[in-house]
Amino acid sequence: MSKTRLEGKVAIITGAASGIGEATARLFASNGATVVIADIQDKLGTAVAASIGADKCSYVHCDVTDEAQVESAVHYAVSKHGHLDIMYSNAGALILSPSILELNLGDFDKVMSVNVRGTAAALKHAGRAMVAAGIRGSIICTGSIASFQSGNGPAGYTTSKHAVLGLVKAAAADLGRHGIRVNCVSPSGVATLMSCEATQMTPEGVEQLNSSASCLKGAVLKANHVAAAALFFASDESEFISGHNLVIDGGTTVVNLLTLQSVEQASNGA
Ligand SMILES: NC(=O)c1ccc[n+]([C@@H]2O[C@H](COP(=O)([O-])OP(=O)(O)OC[C@H]3O[C@@H](n4cnc5c(N)ncnc54)[C@H](O)[C@@H]3O)[C@@H](O)[C@H]2O)c1
Repeated sequence: MSKTRLEGKVAIITGAASGIGEATARLFASNGATVVIADIQDKLGTAVAASIGADKCSYVHCDVTDEAQVESAVHYAVSKHGHLDIMYSNAGALILSPSILELNLGDFDKVMSVNVRGTAAALKHAGRAMVAAGIRGSIICTGSIASFQSGNGPAGYTTSKHAVLGLVKAAAADLGRHGIRVNCVSPSGVATLMSCEATQMTPEGVEQLNSSASCLKGAVLKANHVAAAALFFASDESEFISGHNLVIDGGTTVVNLLTLQSVEQASNGA
């Protein structure tokens, strides 16, 4: 397959100073896109952009909870590069909470603010820039298997990721008439700063935990797998796909592994 699937396209990726966003910034740039990293980690984001190359990538400070900063990140991309073709709303936050019985509503609001308000602002301002320029663009959001299943994170995170999927569907309805498609990528556990902090595990521990929950054996979910799914949605290959939630979980959420293993043990006479 061609390595230049995004030739001539301009993309903003929020939360691309590390993890899934960083892997996607590298993949988009290596496929010909000009990438703007929008994050709050200025040192890291600037270093990632420099390592990709000043001709292909730049960094802009953008706290997605502040609508004005999202709007100005979009203006930055359009004024620097002439147009915006792709918005990947990926920035996310997770704050640990043992149970809904001890739910800290201040933390709940913070998670909702980054994951939901931030996604809404990205959809609004990227959508506006694309409509104003007549660009049949692509907007991608990072959901999670927590977008449709509980038990993968605290209540606030699960709630916020369900809402992200709701926003994707609502925006697909509103922006479809302008030829703009909106899709979601929903991974299970990837070893990143967020998941390591949330589980208090090493990257190897996170990968081991998630591989044991997956029915697909012999493969381990990496940030690059999520980046590849985002690349598909960003490229013209997904021209007729909108409102879709692409789950990247090795079958974790469609197979009841516990029952499967019990049935296998029973049929083996164990
Ligand atoms: N790692 C996983 O297991 C997993 C699974 C499913 C979904 N996700 C989602 O993937 C996305 C990326 O997370 P990751 O795992 O790569 O973690 P990460 O911690 O490596 O990256 C998250 C990035 O978001 C940025 N960010 C946080 N708050 C921000 C804000 N207010 N404004 C702008 N940027 C902000 C951080 O600075 C960081 O660079 C998140 O939306 C997360 O919920 C992660």
